[in-house]
Formats: sequence, structure tokens, C-alpha cells
Amino acid sequence: MARVLVTGSTTGIGHATAASLLRDGHEVVVHARSDARRAGADDLLAAGAEIVVGDLAELTQVLALADAVDDLGPVDAVIHNAGVIDGPVLAVNVVAPYVLTARVPAPRHVVLSSSMHRGGRPDLPTDWSGARPTRSYSDSKLLVTTLVAGVARRRPDLLVHAVDPGWVATRMGGPSASGDLALSHFTQAWLATTDDAEALTSGGYWFHQRTRRTHPAVNDEALQDALLASLAEHTGVDLPGR
Ligand SMILES: NC(=O)c1ccc[n+]([C@@H]2O[C@H](COP(=O)([O-])OP(=O)(O)OC[C@H]3O[C@@H](n4cnc5c(N)ncnc54)[C@H](OP(=O)(O)O)[C@@H]3O)[C@@H](O)[C@H]2O)c1
Repeated sequence: MARVLVTGSTTGIGHATAASLLRDGHEVVVHARSDARRAGADDLLAAGAEIVVGDLAELTQVLALADAVDDLGPVDAVIHNAGVIDGPVLAVNVVAPYVLTARVPAPRHVVLSSSMHRGGRPDLPTDWSGARPTRSYSDSKLLVTTLVAGVARRRPDLLVHAVDPGWVATRMGGPSASGDLALSHFTQAWLATTDDAEALTSGGYWFHQRTRRTHPAVNDEALQDALLASLAEHTGVDLPGR
């Protein structure tokens, strides 16, 4: 049995991931953006989950969230699921996973990417704050996939994975999505909890329990290093072990 934090678990893929982990007998810490959004996790709390609250677009709240997770006790894995397709894409999709990876001392981290990362621009933003909409969703998913590869290289003591859940009919995916919603949580939950040998190699990009090739920039070590340095400078948070 593992203890897993799932960010953005009030709806969509994150809610399905948390529910499936609970059904499989794991302990789960769910996460809501605000007290007003907690109701989306009521069924998960009734099934035994604990909850932490914080807006991932706000750096101070992400830091407080890491402390709140710590206060509840150690977790074995974090599934960095929360994401937005517009608005503060860099803050929510890249900065928050970086800070939570650095601050939550879990041995496994599973980060939601997207096939759309292949259309992203492989250069660093000049402004991480999200105050202006400077970069696209695809850019943010390329950057966070590069972050996973960089953390895997810098931190051989961690297991870090990126997952493409497929295009599925959630609030973000929309009603015409053609992917299999029932499969969209499966790979993340498996990577967070399994001892299967193929899942114990860090740095992969996964789709339905198989690794896939990424945008070539993901494996650019200079870009990985520059990204980690830029995020450390923006957040004031170093990745321990660098
Ligand atoms: N759906 C797809 O087809 C698809 C495809 C590829 C990748 N993905 C990725 O899969 C992940 C989950 O997507 P989804 O389709 O389940 O999206 P969703 O239905 O829109 O759910 C997103 C979740 O993230 C939370 N969230 C968003 N902004 C937040 C913030 N500022 N602070 C805290 N929580 C926040 C949401 O909370 P609220 O309910 O409070 O907004 C919600 O719980 C995302 O990372 C997405 O990029 C999805």
C-alpha cells in the first residue's frame, strides 16, 4: 500500500486517479484549489482521503501547500495532475510541479504532460509569473516534460515520470475528445505505486503503460539545466541534491 498526493483531484482525470487509488486500497491525499472547490472531492473524503488546499497559480500558496502535505505525514508519490489549458499555464503547469517536486520529499513523482507538448516552443520564458499570457499550453507541457527529464538526470535517487493521458472528455478535453476516459488515470496510478520492473526506470514519457518518444528538446541537457536554474531563480526554491 502506498500513500499518494494527487493535485487537482476535484474533477476530471485527477478525481478519477484518486478514486482508483482509493479503490485499490492506497492512502490518498487529495487537493483542491480553494475551500469553495472542496465539494468536488467530497466523495473521495468519504472514502477515506485526506485533503490539502491551495491555488497552484500563486507561488506563496504552492509553498504553503508543500508544508501542509508535510504536516499530514510522508507520501510515497506525488501525481502532479492539476493543469490549465489557458490563463496561468506556466505557473500551474510548470512552476507548481517544480516547487512541489523540490519541497515534497516523496521518492516518486508522476507529472501530467500531453501529446501537445510536441507543438511547444523549446525556449525558456522571460516571465514565469503568468501576469501576462506569454506562452501557450503546448509550451508549458514541453517545458514540464523537459523538467521531468532534467530532474531524472539530476536526482537519480528519485523516480520521475511524465504521462500523456490521451485526449479525453473532461472539462479540459471537451465533449468531442476521442481518447478512452476510462484509461486516462491508469498509467499515473500504476507508475505511482507499482514495483513492476519496467516502471522503475526514471525519466520516461508514458502513454497507456508504454514509453513514447518526446519532442527532441526534452533530452537537451543544456535546456534542462537552464530550465532548472531559471525555475530556482524565479521561485527561490532549489531542487535538493543539485
Ligand atoms: N483532458 C485531456 O484531454 C488531457 C490531455 C492531455 C493532458 N491532460 C492533462 O491532464 C491533467 C488533468 O486534466 P483534466 O482534463 O482532468 O482537466 P480538468 O478537468 O480541467 O481538471 C483540472 C484540475 O486541475 C485543477 N486546477 C486547475 N488550476 C488550478 C489551480 N490554479 N490551483 C489548483 N488546482 C487547479 C482543477 O481544479 P478546479 O476544478 O478548481 O479548476 C481540476 O481539479 C492536466 O495536467 C492536463 O493538462 C489532459
